[in-house]
Amino acid sequence: MKATPRILVTGAGGFIGHHLVKRLKKDGFWVRGIDVKPTDYEASPADDFALLDLRLWENCLQATKDIDQVYNLAADMGGIGYITANHADISRNNILINTHMLDASRLNGVNRFLFSSSACVYPQYKQNDPDVTPLKESDAMPADPEPGYGWEKLFAEELCRYYKKDYGFETRIVRFHNVYGPLGTYEGGKEKAPAAISRKVALAEDGGPIEVWGDGEQTRSFMYVDDCVEGLVRLMASDHSEPLNLGNDRLVTINELIDIISRIAGKKLKKQHDSTKPQGVRGRNSDNTLLNQVLGWEPKIDLEEGLAITYKWIENELRKAGRLPALTAGQMAD
Ligand SMILES: NC(=O)c1ccc[n+]([C@@H]2O[C@H](COP(=O)([O-])OP(=O)(O)OC[C@H]3O[C@@H](n4cnc5c(N)ncnc54)[C@H](O)[C@@H]3O)[C@@H](O)[C@H]2O)c1
Repeated sequence: MKATPRILVTGAGGFIGHHLVKRLKKDGFWVRGIDVKPTDYEASPADDFALLDLRLWENCLQATKDIDQVYNLAADMGGIGYITANHADISRNNILINTHMLDASRLNGVNRFLFSSSACVYPQYKQNDPDVTPLKESDAMPADPEPGYGWEKLFAEELCRYYKKDYGFETRIVRFHNVYGPLGTYEGGKEKAPAAISRKVALAEDGGPIEVWGDGEQTRSFMYVDDCVEGLVRLMASDHSEPLNLGNDRLVTINELIDIISRIAGKKLKKQHDSTKPQGVRGRNSDNTLLNQVLGWEPKIDLEEGLAITYKWIENELRKAGRLPALTAGQMAD
């Protein structure tokens, strides 16, 4: 009988990592979770959860000992405000994590290594129009990625490809497009648009103002975290070692995103656009042609459905923190 693979998830104290550990445990795997910090909202179900700084080589050797498969999700990252303000820290930290994790995995005899890249690797010159042509994997070159975060992701992708070519080391490379869902960061500067907007809508008075970064006409696509985890598991099991998009391909403007979340909250809000705030590229969407070919599947959870779950979770967190009034018995019964 073949032994069940022992799996390492790095970044297991973070958003996607924590959801992935839960899924892998449900599927019956033995899982080690590593992060530099504990999980934020609930305990990790990992069989072994340890705090290690993966920028350090010896910690990567320790983390990958007796492991068959690695999902390398640990990264210094955040929303557009964070990644545009911290180019040096993000680039240095993530190059150290990814280089050490990749080599430690190879030396410790890991069978498969999945690297979590990002749509931020795509060239800025292809994303100047809100009505953007969806980005296919081959569009990444000639390179002109997001400064800092996009460059280090692109370099780490290339490093994975070199390891496959020179050492025959099995790597998988996923390019996430904006992942959202419950148990993610929703304030403090590292949160992404769906969580930040959900928090702002929850805290806003009905009929009151809501701050919008830029003119709100910039476009993105958003993938619910359960789809993200499903895609990760499928990609790991596949034979595809070249970069693969993992995202939803429904394009919405940030203004539309605010309207959807406001409707979920039952509020009417007045948008106040702030052109001094960073807004990233003008438009970005995922071309899922290759994803469908390789995995025979693509993300399918509806944006309204995923945002309703996410909004309710953030609203509840704010209630627990005493920043929104507790629900009355009548409201709870509704
Ligand atoms: N969430 C998205 O929309 C999105 C989009 C594109 C790419 N990604 C990539 O997916 C991965 C997971 O993202 P996430 O949204 O869960 O982010 P997250 O910030 O919630 O999780 C990343 C985790 O890595 C940990 N980490 C950072 N530095 C570390 C270190 N030196 N040693 C050990 N752990 C360290 C952090 O503490 C954090 O818990 C990252 O590689 C990220 O770049 C995410």
